[in-house]
Amino acid sequence: MSQSTIESILQEERLFSPSTEFSQTAHIKSLEDYQRLYQQAKADPEKFWAELAEQELHWFQKWDTVLDWQPPFGKWFVNGKLNISYNCLDRHLTTWRKNKAAIIWEGEPGDSRTITYAQLHREVCQFANVLKQLGVKKGDRVGVYMPMVPEAAIAMLACARIGAPHSVIFGGFSAEALRDRLIDAEAKVVITADGGWRKDAIVPLKPQIDKALANGAVPSVQNVVVVKRTAQDIHMEPGRDNWWHDLQQQASPDCPAEPMDSEDMLFILYTSGSTGKPKGVVHTTGGYNLYSHITTKWIFDLQDTDVYWCTADVGWITGHSYIVYGPLSNGATTLMYEGAPRKSNPGCFWDVVEKYGVTIFYTAPTAIRAFIKMGDHLPKARNLSSLRLLGSVGEPINPEAWMWYHKVIGGERCPIVDTWWQTETGGVMITPLPGATQTKPGSATFPFPGIIADVVNLDGDTVGENEGGYLVVRHPWPGMLRTVYGNPERFRTTYWEHIPPKDGKYLYFAGDGARKDNDGYFWIMGRVDDVLNISGHRLGTMEVESALVSHPAVAEAAVVGKPDEIKGEEIVAFIILEGNCQPSEELSKELKKHVTQEIGAIARPSEIRFSDALPKTRSGKIMRRILRSLAAGEEVSGDTSTLEDKSVLDKLRGEG
Ligand code: WTA
Repeated sequence: MSQSTIESILQEERLFSPSTEFSQTAHIKSLEDYQRLYQQAKADPEKFWAELAEQELHWFQKWDTVLDWQPPFGKWFVNGKLNISYNCLDRHLTTWRKNKAAIIWEGEPGDSRTITYAQLHREVCQFANVLKQLGVKKGDRVGVYMPMVPEAAIAMLACARIGAPHSVIFGGFSAEALRDRLIDAEAKVVITADGGWRKDAIVPLKPQIDKALANGAVPSVQNVVVVKRTAQDIHMEPGRDNWWHDLQQQASPDCPAEPMDSEDMLFILYTSGSTGKPKGVVHTTGGYNLYSHITTKWIFDLQDTDVYWCTADVGWITGHSYIVYGPLSNGATTLMYEGAPRKSNPGCFWDVVEKYGVTIFYTAPTAIRAFIKMGDHLPKARNLSSLRLLGSVGEPINPEAWMWYHKVIGGERCPIVDTWWQTETGGVMITPLPGATQTKPGSATFPFPGIIADVVNLDGDTVGENEGGYLVVRHPWPGMLRTVYGNPERFRTTYWEHIPPKDGKYLYFAGDGARKDNDGYFWIMGRVDDVLNISGHRLGTMEVESALVSHPAVAEAAVVGKPDEIKGEEIVAFIILEGNCQPSEELSKELKKHVTQEIGAIARPSEIRFSDALPKTRSGKIMRRILRSLAAGEEVSGDTSTLEDKSVLDKLRGEG
């Protein structure tokens, strides 16, 4: 973020209060209510979480210890037994919610389905039995590589029901990225579809699975289950591949939820870090169920009449916590949309809001900026009066986009919750509570009750008001990741030892820069490590660089983010070619394609710059700061005294 943006944010003095009408019916009705909860939780976090766990969830057996904290390893609700699929389904069936819509689904071509809690329960039980028939046992991992169809949620809940951790892999990842993740998770079964609809075209998924599994590359995978969605011709491998509808038809709808230990693994979700391969973030049953449940309830102020729509993909944590588990655990109606705004219908999101009377809408700043560009006439031509609450997630929201969202989508009546969190945190950590918090455009405001967030320097000391620093969390919370799958050392060093623990006190290091203003509002400034945020998607620079150097023409690659109006950031790659290769437009295209093949379209560089040298320190470290300035077309400022060969700069500017 540039200095001028930071200054404009710090001068942001507009305050927006929730209407009396909104506050009156809200779960948390006033700032005093929030402060009281916050103080209670701070004074005795274990009591706070235990009371909520008791009130909000069904337990087969109560825990005997709320928190067992052996830093940095935490266990919550020790020896408690529960099942998140029971909490999302079974417990609603004995209430009036039995025939309430659990999932409203809208497909891109215009087909739709409404699935009640009773129907969803039946489908999940059947699919749980399908998994059992395929030999999936408690503890076995199941890969899920799906478009945005109800079967994705059904598959996740069915895994949870029998205690098989799922690992959902975003449908936009390539066969190579898919293979790496399936190998790391040692998945036994993979659930997929022939394809999905996106922007008026079929995104083929099954062919990617075939490629990923070719030549026994993932020996753990025994079976693949395929949902028929797009109905194009696909290959079905005899003995390995099965149609979802064939298996589902024959399966019994009777499958009691397995009592799981609180600390049994619920899922693995891969995310990018600044070094190495993507890490498998591990979440467990009890703490995650409670944290995703209560954050959904309070932050989105769920009421029984709400139609709640989160536009994320189930392949990301936002989809896990705020399309599937959080809303269903609360007995809400969650809307799933398959597609994306597209040429043939750029106003499709607003059509969906109008068609279903959506009341709560949760999306990403990159989408909001794209909507602004598409023009006000699109939302204005639809009736959006059903909306009562708006949310934002994934990256800092610029005040201009916030104001547009507030005026044009929210009709100046809907509170906006700007929610800061991460794959690792399981649920939202810093956010307004819509009936309580006065919001400032661009600020995620205050920590959720029970979350002790702070902004510190590298010694772990709190920095002054308005001073930039590192965002940390000072106390464990139920939704926190438990480890990195198969790599507890990486868990320890990445998150808990980046700021060295003092006197046995460990700080969770989020990887984001932040500051607190004079009123105690948090302003998130973006990543402080080599993690890029492209349209709200996390990508490690090193992942993209490894993909580039795996091309035979590339000797060395350095990747940086360049500010982009819509995407937040886009990727610029600096490339040194192998001796016998010449730069060309064609090669540039080929390299972009290569990255798409290796990772997926989200990682495709928007620009390739060929060079014969990269700015390095004497110890051989690439000076990314310099590359970032060059990519953004800015003057290279700051200290360049550690630069080994100064002439490199002129060459990179094209002056050498
Ligand atoms: C960024 C997505 C500012 C941040 C839920 C974080 C945000 C990373 C916000 C996590 C926000 C997410 N304001 N930045 N409201 N929400 N981020 O794991 O850099 O895909 O560290 O989780 O997104 O991305 P992840």
